[in-house]
Amino acid sequence: MPARKRVLSGMRPTGRLHLGHLVGALENWIKLQDQYQCFFFVADWHALTTDYADTSQITDNTCQMVTDWLAAGLDPEKATFFVQSRVPEHAELSLLFSMITPLGWLERVPSYKEQREQIRDKDLGTHGFLGYPVLQAADILIYKAHFVPVGEDQVAHVELTREIARRFNSFYKASRGRRVFPEPEALLTPTPKLPGLDGRKMSKSYGNVLELADEPETIREKVSAMLTDPQRVRRTDPGRPEICPVFGYHRRYSTEAVIKQVDRDCRTAAIGCVDCKALMVEHLLPVLEPIRERRRQYEARPESVANILAEGSRKARGVARRTMNQVREAMQMVFDWEKRKRLRAKAERTP
Ligand code: TRP
Ligand code: SF4
Repeated sequence: MPARKRVLSGMRPTGRLHLGHLVGALENWIKLQDQYQCFFFVADWHALTTDYADTSQITDNTCQMVTDWLAAGLDPEKATFFVQSRVPEHAELSLLFSMITPLGWLERVPSYKEQREQIRDKDLGTHGFLGYPVLQAADILIYKAHFVPVGEDQVAHVELTREIARRFNSFYKASRGRRVFPEPEALLTPTPKLPGLDGRKMSKSYGNVLELADEPETIREKVSAMLTDPQRVRRTDPGRPEICPVFGYHRRYSTEAVIKQVDRDCRTAAIGCVDCKALMVEHLLPVLEPIRERRRQYEARPESVANILAEGSRKARGVARRTMNQVREAMQMVFDWEKRKRLRAKAERTP
């Protein structure tokens, strides 16, 4: 059987994850771990590109986030989980890529300009921030990943990764003229996004999230404060489920019959928002309960998460080291004398 194709993806360590992460990324990762050889990692160096001035939360955020990965159903028996900075070869490859990446390519990445304009409280005029996609290219290419599951906002980074791979391959060849790096493809996450509590995109910075670790009581409170159709001022006003975030949750978590009933009863004001929300929560909680239960198990043994990351990082490093050997050979930067002699002899034999 040929080796399964490789998938790689990462997240910056943002701490506890929310329902938007579950729907927008984790559920997809969980499917992929059964089909591919998967590597999932914490991009802690990438966190530094914006949060370099305060590094105090990085390790805690890493543990919290990975606990949520595992709680959601990602499985260390099936996939490899690691921390970027525990595989320092990423930095070496990133440095080499930085030599061949034209500045114009980086300045043209849409997220670069947007973020520099949007994030005003930090100085993002750093080498590291401009080089963000170079490091990301190293993350992906060091594992020769075929597929990179990401959201829409990351597609430009995967595109740039393909360009860097192409440029590297055109300058440097592996033995017998082969190319060192495959060109990875973005796997756009197919699931529709869940709205946040206020109807905007769910995001920690908007304060409109349901955390995976929230207790049922907290979920009930947050949902009872959720925005509904603003035209439904009185209980007797008919509503428009299609613009109501609560209905977005029904659509995803309730049964077909309940969705139909809510759709009808909202429009005729037969149901009030309080009851509608309570009905929604009863369908949502059973989805979160097994996640919270697994989280409790990991929290009871905090060293287990650390061990999973240590073991995964060791495994990832083995792969990364092999790629770096090929990279140094292709670039003719081998300083091990015996190895160099062997490579020379081989090069003479194969014209
Ligand atoms: N830039 C990604 C994000 O912000 C995180 C990331 C870093 C990543 N390296 C990666 C994602 C490599 C996929 C592959 O979400
Ligand atoms: Fe939204 Fe339900 Fe209220 Fe209709 S009844 S506006 S769907 S919360």
